[in-house]
Amino acid sequence: MGNVPEVLEIKGIVEESETVRTFIFDWDFRSEIVPGQFVMVWNFSDEKPMSVSLIDHKRSEIGISIRRVGEFTSAVHELGEGDLLGVRGPYGRGFELMGRNLILVGGGIGMAPLAALADEAVARGMNVDALVAARTADELLFTERLENAGVNIHTCTDDGTCGFQGFAHERLSEMDVKYDMAAVCGPEPMMFHVKAVLDERGIPAQFSLERYMKCAVGICGQCCVDGTGWRVCAEGPVFWDHELRGVSEFGRYRRDAAGRRISW
Ligand SMILES: Cc1cc2nc3c(=O)[nH]c(=O)nc-3n(C[C@H](O)[C@H](O)[C@H](O)COP(=O)(O)OP(=O)(O)OC[C@H]3O[C@@H](n4cnc5c(N)ncnc54)[C@H](O)[C@@H]3O)c2cc1C
Ligand code: FES
Repeated sequence: MGNVPEVLEIKGIVEESETVRTFIFDWDFRSEIVPGQFVMVWNFSDEKPMSVSLIDHKRSEIGISIRRVGEFTSAVHELGEGDLLGVRGPYGRGFELMGRNLILVGGGIGMAPLAALADEAVARGMNVDALVAARTADELLFTERLENAGVNIHTCTDDGTCGFQGFAHERLSEMDVKYDMAAVCGPEPMMFHVKAVLDERGIPAQFSLERYMKCAVGICGQCCVDGTGWRVCAEGPVFWDHELRGVSEFGRYRRDAAGRRISW
């Protein structure tokens, strides 16, 4: 698959929560695809970036998990099995795995790329812990799927309806297990605070950033970040901790479709 969308039939839909659905497609794996990469999804009127949340080589399938937030995502949620979507990609730099002991820290829909990463890490024989965070119990994502895959789950909710009551970085600072690396995805203020805890512990970490994307192939400049000028769609969306030190806007602001700054 290249830079032109391929029209694919929705093969299956998994209801993950009240607001999140996973859409499954047949995928021929002609081009390599790694956890942390994303595809552009086109509903024949608009196009948006979505992380790949499932990579199943055995069944030749991929999945994307979409949280209903606005016009585009609501329209996609209206679709059923057998309906069509355009998909182009995969794009961007995904996660790298190293060592034996991995911790995943995911907030809300940020768990999507981490779910695909967990599957790969388990398949490689790594010990995987996941700190799954959400506002409330019903919004905790992929806990059953990951538990079945052999991941140790720690949950944390803002309202205390499941697991630790509080934020992911507060839960993380209570955990004194040593990890060879961490992979983090979620709201940027969450990642900012989680990064501080991981930095303090000296745990190498990778973070998946979200920026407004239009072309997804590094041409339009829409997703460039201040400090380095890196294009999140091409040099990212996954960055190492030491790389983020140069991204002056990390944890402070992002830009909307018109390029205006929006504080987190
Ligand atoms: C690399 C990457 C991976 C993503 N993976 C997922 C995923 O797996 N699941 C998921 O539900 N969401 C994912 N998103 C976010 C998703 O693309 C947007 O939230 C979604 O397009 C919002 O669409 P909407 O029209 O329904 O909502 P709107 O109400 O139009 O937008 C809500 C917010 O979404 C963001 N957004 C809107 N359009 C874009 C765009 N073209 N690029 C980036 N952000 C945008 C803006 O911050 C906006 O304020 C990802 C974004 C990026 C950049
Ligand atoms: S979205 Fe166009 S350069 Fe990244």
